[in-house]
Amino acid sequence: MNLDPAVEEEFRRLEEEIAGHDRRYHGEARPTVSDFAYDQLRRRQGELLAAHPSLQTLRPGGVGDDRLDRFPKKNHREPMLSLNNTYGEDELRRFVERVERAAAGPVDFVVEPKIDGVALAITYRSGRLAHALTRGNGLEGDVVTENLRAVADIPRTIPAEGKEGEESVVEVRGEIHVEEKDFQAMNAEREEMGEEPYANARNLAAGSLKLLDPKESARRRLHFLAYEILGYAIGTQWEVLETLRRWQFPSNGGALARGFAQVWQRVEELGKSRSGHAFATDGAVVKANDRSLRAVLGAQSSAPRWAIAYKFAPERVETLLEDIRLRVGRTGVVTPVAVLSPVHLAGSTIRSATLHNGDDIARKDLRIGDTVFLEKAGEVIPAVVAPVPEKRPASALPFAFPSQCPACGEPLVRIDGEVAHRCLNPDCPPQLARRLEHFASRAALDIATLGPARIAQLLERGLVRHFVDIYSLDADSLAALPGMGPRSAKNLLAAVDASRRQPTWRLLHGLGIPHVGAETAKLLLRRWPSLQDLAAAERDELCRCDGVGEVVAAGIFRFFRSPANRKLLETLSSLGFAVFSPTPAIGLVAAQSPARELAGPSPFPESAGPSPFRGKNFAITGSFSSLGREELRRRIEERGGSVREALSRRVDVLLVGERPGSKRAEAERLGIATAGEDVLFRWLQESESAERRN
Ligand code: IVH
Repeated sequence: MNLDPAVEEEFRRLEEEIAGHDRRYHGEARPTVSDFAYDQLRRRQGELLAAHPSLQTLRPGGVGDDRLDRFPKKNHREPMLSLNNTYGEDELRRFVERVERAAAGPVDFVVEPKIDGVALAITYRSGRLAHALTRGNGLEGDVVTENLRAVADIPRTIPAEGKEGEESVVEVRGEIHVEEKDFQAMNAEREEMGEEPYANARNLAAGSLKLLDPKESARRRLHFLAYEILGYAIGTQWEVLETLRRWQFPSNGGALARGFAQVWQRVEELGKSRSGHAFATDGAVVKANDRSLRAVLGAQSSAPRWAIAYKFAPERVETLLEDIRLRVGRTGVVTPVAVLSPVHLAGSTIRSATLHNGDDIARKDLRIGDTVFLEKAGEVIPAVVAPVPEKRPASALPFAFPSQCPACGEPLVRIDGEVAHRCLNPDCPPQLARRLEHFASRAALDIATLGPARIAQLLERGLVRHFVDIYSLDADSLAALPGMGPRSAKNLLAAVDASRRQPTWRLLHGLGIPHVGAETAKLLLRRWPSLQDLAAAERDELCRCDGVGEVVAAGIFRFFRSPANRKLLETLSSLGFAVFSPTPAIGLVAAQSPARELAGPSPFPESAGPSPFRGKNFAITGSFSSLGREELRRRIEERGGSVREALSRRVDVLLVGERPGSKRAEAERLGIATAGEDVLFRWLQESESAERRN
């Protein structure tokens, strides 16, 4: 390969940066750049690829990757491609002309809203919903069927019969999304519970689709809008939309247009009405209506040439940056917050916006007194983009980040590699308050009636300093507090006492380790059975845990290596928390089944040894979307387990697939442990990766 090393270097850097954004976006639901900035990177990557096709050899896959280890996998019947994006009218015109040239004449297009959601492919076998896959890496996706049971927009059956005696296999593709109003309500709920809000509705949809607990996904009010049918003879995209409507899928509002003028008119209409839709759209998709043109036009790397996405420019307003305030958070991070003259933007009134950190303010050169541009783009959280230079008053000075904590006056420091300024004083008052609030919040230990106001009171009177102090509060001093009496004191103490028996993930979440939210806490405890085991984990082991990125791993590692926190674990244990004993394995027992909980040593250690199957007896009921029975038997036997036809007390675990039979109830009666597809698949993966390591 005869490549300019500078080009190769730029390409590698881009690939790495994009992969990082993909990981944060798909894996951690925590994007750090706007869609626009991401698209610029992808565009540059596309330009380099077009100019130097040999760069292809440096890259493993095509369209990003949303796969997570904990889901079973399946191949897509056809690759799930991406779309080329454009932000310009001219480029859209050239697309229309290219299609017209290929067709040698005028062409009908279908213009559809581009739903800002998560791609999903649903397979129907003989008209019955069989399984649903995420995009994954475009070729292979995660099986998320269970998590979609509660999505009312997805019909369980469709009238797509095959020929007499033949099974029809039809696939419907579309976007899972969360409606704007539900997104706002759920984020408000999260903030109230002290959890980090989702950056936008699409991240909430992606996160919800990939939750460990299908019951929790069902609560997330997911919707589906379909735009594609595969495996069903259909001549035009318009007929696809009509057929989808007939099959009871909600309509995505696509419209026919002929020639560029009509296409552009329709795109502009969609742009104007975007905030009027219940769903979030970030653009319009323009598709050649005649599907036979697809073969003529073909695809280029990971995007087809018969369709294009026109992305709307982010909505932008101007307002005054009145002040920059500093907020000290639970972990000591000092966050600058813009105080803005109230302004209306994309459906809500904005009064403030985070400015992230000092570097960001300096890079954008934001000054108090500036008129600034505010955007929402695909992100629902408003962002201060840039100052308006010609409106800067002469008196506006560059913002100097203070060198001392605005709350306690201790010097602020910047830990290696972090952009944030931190106050390291563990006794800094707002930190103490935030830590206690977080510990007692509904999302963590859920101590009823111990809210922010009560905590402020306790801190003020010196009754508590740290959350362990909550456990030595006495009824008399509580009852003497203003607004409290003997009865509320008793209730509070009862709630405090009950918190010792909360599941360990709540305690782990409550400890306030940076980035360890409820879901991450559950993931960690699936891998390490007790807090003590987790505390002993090495940094690279933590990194290998599915869903734990490098930054998160470093935070956990640092937390547990601190002697003070080691001591804290002992104190918590002496207070009655189950710090040293294994937690019951999450998800190991089928959801509805009260069959023997795998408390204590489970037949399968959460941190699987060389083979979690070795020497164990299994029975199977129901079907598994990712594996046939025989294949499953073979894989268990290869790993030293055996599979029995009948259920008896000799069976260690009953594997419960979809539509289980009577064995499930029988297992319950006999007290035999059960495991669902997600757990089974995790064991298979763990044992396979252990085999690879050995
Ligand atoms: S058609 C070959 N139509 O946007 C890909 N995609 O950025 C055909 N999307 O992968 C996709 N709304 O996940 C199509 N009306 C729509 C869409 C849509 C949203 C998503 C889809 C696609 C992605 C590309």
